Amino acid sequence: MKIRILTVLFFVVALTACENEGEFPKPVRTVPPSTTTGLHTHLPFPFGAAVSVNLMKNNPKYRAVVTNEMNSITAENAMKVSALHPSKDVFTWADADYLVDFAQQHGKRVHGHTLIWHQSLPPWIENFSGTKEEFELIFKNHIQTIVTHFKGKVVSWDVVNEAFENDSPALRNSVWRRILGDDYIARAFQYAHEADPEALLFYNDYGHEWGPTKRTAIINLVTSLKQRGIPIHGIGMQMHTRYNQSDANLAAAINTAAATGLLVHISELDISMNPEKVQGIALTPALAQLQANRYKFIVQTYNAIPKAQQFGITTWNVGDADSWVPGFNGAPDWPLPFDRDYLPKPAYQGIIDGVQ
Ligand code: G3I
Repeated sequence: MKIRILTVLFFVVALTACENEGEFPKPVRTVPPSTTTGLHTHLPFPFGAAVSVNLMKNNPKYRAVVTNEMNSITAENAMKVSALHPSKDVFTWADADYLVDFAQQHGKRVHGHTLIWHQSLPPWIENFSGTKEEFELIFKNHIQTIVTHFKGKVVSWDVVNEAFENDSPALRNSVWRRILGDDYIARAFQYAHEADPEALLFYNDYGHEWGPTKRTAIINLVTSLKQRGIPIHGIGMQMHTRYNQSDANLAAAINTAAATGLLVHISELDISMNPEKVQGIALTPALAQLQANRYKFIVQTYNAIPKAQQFGITTWNVGDADSWVPGFNGAPDWPLPFDRDYLPKPAYQGIIDGVQ
């Protein structure tokens, strides 16, 4: 009798827990223990960076920072379509496996980036000329082969990345959308979920902090996926931002994402200190302090959203020399919390101050 009462009690508690979680039961995977010191130990949510396989292999200072300061990693490029799936029947795992093995040995969570994107596509996909049905099979096989390969090792995926045009509410006319139609986005989530029902699935994009136009389109998309019962668990906001972005815009980005009830990942954070692209300038102490204050504001705002939705913060690479920003802007810049020599900048303290 006692056992029967206990069993009933267990199910009532479990059911209530499920209901409280909302429409989708959230798969739970624990982050394995990482280092006991370092930046991530100061923060109540996972913290990490996008990492380069080349630098992980060849630069001991870089590798040490990733090992010591972070408990979550994303592959900067090694899990993109062109890296993993260079031709129809060929998948190349070596670089991505290298990162996953490192993560397993050192207790880091791995976030997968990215299954479906309009960039970093190999020519055989970009120039596909078969039927819609054939492309649907390729699309499904691409997603499911990759998710299956990393099942149990990669806890979460950017399933679809940057489906909207630049600063616009219109869906981007990528090869995926052109051939498969608008609902390729929903199907990508379904296929990924079939392959690993425990993986946490994110829609990832940039520009949430630019203003309401694109942000609203993104929020409407994820809300409608959620309402339709599509297995989406999180929203990734890249947040490639700049020192002079307003507090109001940054806060609106973070808080509207949180209002969806989904997990929220600040997935590609960097703060440009030279968006004006002035040539020949250097990072002054005053500029570095200004950057620290911006990092602090973002972390503080993120730390105020419900704990259960804090998937974590990921910076887009580690040290200033590794950032994509100077190359993209064609101007000097210092967007990251570590300098060219992998020493912590004031931004490092800014991140810690954000949770004090
Ligand atoms: O590795 C090759 C090298 O062998 C070759 O000599 C060289 C010549 O161009 O290219 C090298 O590959 C480059 C790769 O970065 C590694 O450096 C690619 O050309 C270049 O396109 C690639 O750029 C990446 C870009 O995404 C496109 O995939 C950036 O590193 C990466 O930081 C950037 O990341 C994106 C996110 O995935 C999505 N959100 C925006 C973010 C910044 O653009």
